[in-house]
Amino acid sequence: MSASSSQFQQLEKLGEGTYATVYKGRNRASGTLVALKEINLDSEEGTPSTAIREISLMKELKHENIVTLYDVIHTENKLTLVFEYMDKDLKKYMDTHGYNKSGALEPQLVKSFMFQLLRGIIFCHDNRVLHRDLKPQNLLINSKGELKLGDFGLARAFGIPVNTFSNEVVTLWYRAPDVLLGSRNYTTSIDMWSAGCILAEMFTGKPLFPGSSNEDQMLKIFRIMGTPNERTWPGVTNYQNYKSNFNVFIPQDLSILIPNIDSLALNLLQGLLQMRPDARLSARQSLQHPWFNEYTGNGSNAGFDQQSLQHQQQQPPQQPQQSQQQQIVQGYSYQV
Ligand SMILES: Nc1ncnc2c1ncn2[C@@H]1O[C@H](COP(=O)(O)OP(=O)(O)O)[C@@H](O)[C@H]1O
Ligand SMILES: [Mg+2]
Repeated sequence: MSASSSQFQQLEKLGEGTYATVYKGRNRASGTLVALKEINLDSEEGTPSTAIREISLMKELKHENIVTLYDVIHTENKLTLVFEYMDKDLKKYMDTHGYNKSGALEPQLVKSFMFQLLRGIIFCHDNRVLHRDLKPQNLLINSKGELKLGDFGLARAFGIPVNTFSNEVVTLWYRAPDVLLGSRNYTTSIDMWSAGCILAEMFTGKPLFPGSSNEDQMLKIFRIMGTPNERTWPGVTNYQNYKSNFNVFIPQDLSILIPNIDSLALNLLQGLLQMRPDARLSARQSLQHPWFNEYTGNGSNAGFDQQSLQHQQQQPPQQPQQSQQQQIVQGYSYQV
């Protein structure tokens, strides 16, 4: 924490969120562009715990697909996080680069962004960090076409000594069905649902499930993915927000909703948008998917046989196994 705010010239505003305002800035000595995330401190309450969390997580997380935190400037009434400068977030990128002003991206670009998103997520999950707020506004793109995960304000390390998390954290449209149904004990799988929603949105330029309330969000998902029941998702009726009078929808063909998606990308999407959290692909499995063979150098189907390409939504799990992710959480003792 050695920098002082006079080192940076503050330029135009880049964005605004719940706690912070983000400005473009320039290091006066080196000329390097930065993003200055300013958090106003309530003098009564001191440094907000969300900011402390963001800092302690981000300073440890160094990866090509994670926005670098250079420095932290702590003054009496303000905390400024100095990040590497990125040109825009993915939302703005889609708004300006999407073809025919639809917001949709070219399939090759979707693949490149998705690959980078998954690499960033693998790195987080390997480090016991859930992002919990993955959405286009929190993914940043630079002029080299690099995509990086940003905004860890709501992220938490797994090891904190509570095993229930607040269920108000992932922005509604990207929120997993298990969280909407009231699960407070979630794992890395919630980020994978968000990644699926982002994949679909990059292809169409439109959010896949733009719900307006918790209930509406669930119905928007059920309308497309089918209403879950005990046969398709054993245990679903036990969730707090489950209602026996939910409208019953049958699963729709995603390729009709996303006409420009190719069959391999569609298969990956189906693996991510599994209603049951334990059936969702992990970030590492997703990166092994044959859609990415040109990046990973895998053979035609190396590491991913035909059987695993069939996501059998209707089939209950073989046994009520403890997921690998839960084991990680339990075996972990790191504290922020
Ligand atoms: N490093 C950065 N480079 C460029 N723009 C950024 C950067 N970080 C954030 N922004 C812009 O500011 C917005 C808000 O930043 P974010 O970190 O998501 O804060 P909040 O917690 O308030 O959502 C982002 O959606 C993005 O448009
Ligand atoms: Mg944000």
